[in-house]
Amino acid sequence: MGFARFCLFLMFVSSMVFMASCSKTDGKKESLGRGLKDAYKGDFLIGAALGRPYILGQDSVADMLIKKHFNTISPENDMKCELIHPEWNKYYFDIADKFVELGKENNQFLLGHTLVWHSQLAPFVTKITSADSLRLFMKEHISTIVGRYKGKINAWDVVNEALNEDGTMRKSIFYNLLGDQYIIDAFRLAQTADPKAELYYNDYNIEQPAKRKGAIELIKKIQAAGIRIDGVGIQGHWSIRGLPLEDIEQSILDYSALGLKVMLTELDITVLPNPWDLRGADVNQNFEGSAMMNPYPQGLPDSMQVKLAMEYESLFDLLVKHKDKVSRVTFWGVNDESSWLNGWPIRGRTNYPLLFDRNYQPKPAYYRVMSVKDEEKRP
Ligand code: XIL
Repeated sequence: MGFARFCLFLMFVSSMVFMASCSKTDGKKESLGRGLKDAYKGDFLIGAALGRPYILGQDSVADMLIKKHFNTISPENDMKCELIHPEWNKYYFDIADKFVELGKENNQFLLGHTLVWHSQLAPFVTKITSADSLRLFMKEHISTIVGRYKGKINAWDVVNEALNEDGTMRKSIFYNLLGDQYIIDAFRLAQTADPKAELYYNDYNIEQPAKRKGAIELIKKIQAAGIRIDGVGIQGHWSIRGLPLEDIEQSILDYSALGLKVMLTELDITVLPNPWDLRGADVNQNFEGSAMMNPYPQGLPDSMQVKLAMEYESLFDLLVKHKDKVSRVTFWGVNDESSWLNGWPIRGRTNYPLLFDRNYQPKPAYYRVMSVKDEEKRP
């Protein structure tokens, strides 16, 4: 083959390769389209908590949705103590490993949820009665898990829900045996096991003034001990009865003034009544099977869809206003069907707290959240 013909041949081959790669990426773009994460690119990450079926990729429609809309994922349950560390010397890493693989494939920012929490503890931990044993548990638990995922899991909810509503320390097994030093120890252990991972304190209602004050004190204690804390997660389990927007805004300002990233880490908006909403209701009363507490088993009325959409829109307006301080918004679930709010605080109800419906279709709330960004582009 002459030189000229060889050059022509090379041009032909490279143009074929180019066309093939174009059609590949175009195809990918077409099938995925613009998702939530793209709309909010440059503002903050958008995430979802994944239950086990999603981590295992058991539904191809859901797989696509998760890839399209979210650039960060949290494991809904599979890294909690009772599942990942069920016995003293037994760890079960299979699902957490799959979670890490999935996130790597999708190029997502990965959360480890959660290292030290009084709930969903393995039974052997709840039986510990001495400070030394509990300290040993914390050391082994944190260094083994964070160590295994060093350089893979990007950030950890190191301590979850350490506070009471009035801002005092929750009398958990950790507090009862170790005092508030356990918080500092947990962050120190996590920092040692993976010095590059981001470390967060995570809790619900810490946008509320009294609890917020407690959270600020707790964060300052960690900082005063010379231990790194990178962010604070406001869980964000709110109700359609009204979001506490002023408290959320003040919290964003107050937490960020401590030098921390602020995140909504478990966002959902229940549309159902809760026992504590009812005047004089006994929270322990059994509401299961009560029609009054499960008003929309056949579908959400339009007026409620609109209300939900408006609540989500006002929240995202606020978050965008503070996009320099807010680093991530994670929804607690993928679609209404799989939300934990169908089963909590009353089992067997039909709730509609998220942006995607039971068929993985976007709801009016989704379009309002997207429109917050479209409106920005308008002249
Ligand atoms: C919830 C899960 O969504 C449920 O599947 C599980 O049964 C209980 O825990 N705060 C947290 C989350 O930090 O881990 C909780 O997740 C919801 C409240």
